[in-house]
Amino acid sequence: MKFEDVKKIGVLGGGVMGGGIAQVLAIAGYDVVVRDLTDEINEQTRDAVFESKWGMKRAVEVGKLEFDKCYEAMQRVSFTTDLNDLADADMVIEAVPEKLELKQQVFAELDEVVKPEAIFVSNTSGFVIEEIAQDVLESRKQLFGGMHFFNPVPVMKACEVIYTPHTSQDTIDAVRGVAEKAGKAVSMVKDMPGTYGFIVNRIYAAARREADKLVEDGIATQEDIDKAMITGRNWPVGFYAGRGGIGKQW
Ligand SMILES: NC(=O)c1ccc[n+]([C@@H]2O[C@H](COP(=O)([O-])OP(=O)(O)OC[C@H]3O[C@@H](n4cnc5c(N)ncnc54)[C@H](O)[C@@H]3O)[C@@H](O)[C@H]2O)c1
Repeated sequence: MKFEDVKKIGVLGGGVMGGGIAQVLAIAGYDVVVRDLTDEINEQTRDAVFESKWGMKRAVEVGKLEFDKCYEAMQRVSFTTDLNDLADADMVIEAVPEKLELKQQVFAELDEVVKPEAIFVSNTSGFVIEEIAQDVLESRKQLFGGMHFFNPVPVMKACEVIYTPHTSQDTIDAVRGVAEKAGKAVSMVKDMPGTYGFIVNRIYAAARREADKLVEDGIATQEDIDKAMITGRNWPVGFYAGRGGIGKQW
């Protein structure tokens, strides 16, 4: 599957991430089908995509999206509880909860239903992609990768694209191309057994561990750590006070 052949994208799991992913892909021009477990959940996702703080209608209100583009994008998103509606998808992005066994199981199910040339992508926050892909057919492994979006997806520009030793160059180009078409700044990440997390979460976790150690050892207070990082490194936020928090007073 080449980048230019990707037209229809299935999103498995329409929660916090799946809804945002569906939204940015529909705005980018893709036909998107979101599959979740119940009609009620699908209604909530529909509301998030169209009506929420980060949704399409609000984007029009604040001048970030043209009305016509919003209208067209809304026509391109549909919701289903039936896995078979993903059968002819060119790419499926999985965004079910962060449980390795669940991800392995849903990809094994998808493998039986979705056409053999379709690309499979996981939005895991950090599991090893090869482990997630362990139960799909060997032929699908070259079509398998990771795509780590950040929350809220319509706002956060980063997207980590993860490739395994089996991921083909066409698949890498297609996944990267789709992310870039959706306006994302892509960083490439090599899948690495024995790790959890890609670039952003690993570096954040390491810095956070160090910050907590400074507090634990009585070297600095939480507030002084936030103040030092915000004013000394130009971080937009610290570790301990939320966005728009104590940084404002400096
Ligand atoms: N929330 C974040 O900030 C964030 C950021 C980056 C990555 N992620 C990753 O994205 C993934 C999803 O996280 P989330 O926060 O959106 O979770 P969520 O709980 O908001 O949404 C998960 C959705 O998957 C659905 N689901 C469960 N089993 C399913 C199945 N078999 N078929 C279809 N749908 C199914 C659930 O009903 C739910 O709506 C996780 O792997 C998470 O680690 C989350």
